[in-house]
Amino acid sequence: FQVKPPVNEPIKGYMPGSPECVALKAELERQLANPVEVPLIIDGKEIRTETKAKMICPHDHQQVLGEYYIAGEKELLMAINAAEAAREQWENMPWEHRATIFLKAADLLTGKYRAKLSAACMLGQSKNPYQSEIDVICEMADFLRFNGHFIQEIYKQQPLSTDGVWNRVEYRALDGFVAAITPFNFTSIGGNLPTAPAMCGNTVLWKPSSTAVLSNYYFMQILIEAGLPAGVINFVPCRGVDFGKVVVPHPKMAGFHFTGSTGVFNDIWNQVGQNINNYVTYPRLVGETGGKDFIFAHESADVEALTCAIVLGAFEYQGQKCSAASRAYIPESLWGKVKGRLEEEIGKIKMGDVRDFTNLMNAVIDQKSFKNIKNYLDYARESKDAEIIIGGGCDDSVGYFVEPTVILAKTPTFKTMVEEIFGPVMTIYVYPNDKLEETLKACDTATSYALTGAVFAQDRTAIIKLAKALDHAAGNFYINDKPTGAVVGQQPFGGSRGSGTNDKAGSAINLYRWMNQRAIKETL
Ligand code: NAD
Ligand code: ALA
Repeated sequence: FQVKPPVNEPIKGYMPGSPECVALKAELERQLANPVEVPLIIDGKEIRTETKAKMICPHDHQQVLGEYYIAGEKELLMAINAAEAAREQWENMPWEHRATIFLKAADLLTGKYRAKLSAACMLGQSKNPYQSEIDVICEMADFLRFNGHFIQEIYKQQPLSTDGVWNRVEYRALDGFVAAITPFNFTSIGGNLPTAPAMCGNTVLWKPSSTAVLSNYYFMQILIEAGLPAGVINFVPCRGVDFGKVVVPHPKMAGFHFTGSTGVFNDIWNQVGQNINNYVTYPRLVGETGGKDFIFAHESADVEALTCAIVLGAFEYQGQKCSAASRAYIPESLWGKVKGRLEEEIGKIKMGDVRDFTNLMNAVIDQKSFKNIKNYLDYARESKDAEIIIGGGCDDSVGYFVEPTVILAKTPTFKTMVEEIFGPVMTIYVYPNDKLEETLKACDTATSYALTGAVFAQDRTAIIKLAKALDHAAGNFYINDKPTGAVVGQQPFGGSRGSGTNDKAGSAINLYRWMNQRAIKETL
């Protein structure tokens, strides 16, 4: 058995009248007309509890997609028991058979369920068709297929043997279950966090984000259709506080696969520390967390490439990518031209309902996020140290809409220049050309994050200088490109410092974290 060498899933264009466009439009209407109920899935069974919440489109408060059930302490304990009961058989299943299930799931989601998954992601998380396609279809399928390939390569690795001695390594799963807690912004990350440990023989509790339940549930259904045995992944939407009370301190909690904000990961890490004497094994803690991603331009930068990177890097998916550009450093000598081009390009951006495929932007995810972004904009508006030069408007009368906004900061430490906002807000600091070194230092040290960053320069000596000065400032570093859009198998993704443990999603490094090696020496 050989896992086929993976190829990145081709991105479909959804051009007007194309078959994929027609199918997607019909599916959007079908889902809007047919609200659904999303159960928990524990031990392969659908469970309905007494607590429910509504799933509402972020871009239209009137559009209700359905309701989902919320797990409490009782159901979380059931899920732990199911994961523990399924563990031995799943771990001992030949890895080729585990991998086959995930490869089949990739084919199902890129095939017969493409429109269904994409529509759920667009409606539930307010993404345009392109943003949905690159997330829940292409990146999700890539994670499944590349992880199948990586695991094959890892399992081939064996130590040296000598005369009379046969050494070998067995790649076991962890001594307990893995908890996967996933964010709203990338459905693909939602799918990867439970399936990567499961690919390695672990059983999992998956707590999806409350604002991405629908697309995550449809993916869970695909895993079941692909043959995932009962109990291997248990789908338990629940409140973070219940997860923290029941799951995190459980003695059999052996790994934690998290993507979300830095604060939540820090809380979980603290909780694990407080319970450290209770675990059967040291839990593996893998977290991809917040960011304050930068674009740094040198005076030799190409203005067109730079403008394009700022606009797409900052405003696609409403600035809600962990990788989104949210601060930029522009030399004084380029600022006049860059400002003019930003005004032109941002002026062309259309924003609205996801069913209008000409909208580049849709709504931000929920009321909490809307208020948080609005507070930052009000702060900038009232400050003497900054000026909103483009956009700044917010309107939640129909949905949670925030205009693409550019703030000009007088200092590189202005609040919106250093704190993660997670919305369509770009803060720019214009630096004197002779203050390059100081500004590079400010870029490196002004925030606690180090997720993504991009530098723009045409002068090769400058590229080398910028890359060196910012060598620890980003886990994913781009030269003359926007800092978003890492592709599985091409740019392994993840940051360090306050941005995570840098266990690169979509790489063999990540899979090693879910394995327990047994080294065997046999004397012949
Ligand atoms: P979030 O931290 O609010 O939520 C993430 C998950 O944690 C959700 O499932 C949420 O319900 C859960 N959660 C919240 N409080 C909890 C608690 N006390 N105990 C247990 N679970 C709890 O993040 P979000 O709003 O879904 O996503 C946005 C954040 O994620 C941003 O900070 C972004 O930078 C980050 N992110 C990082 C990466 C990366 O690769 N570094 C990728 C995507 C998102
Ligand atoms: N692949 C996503 C990006 O780089 C996380 O934007």
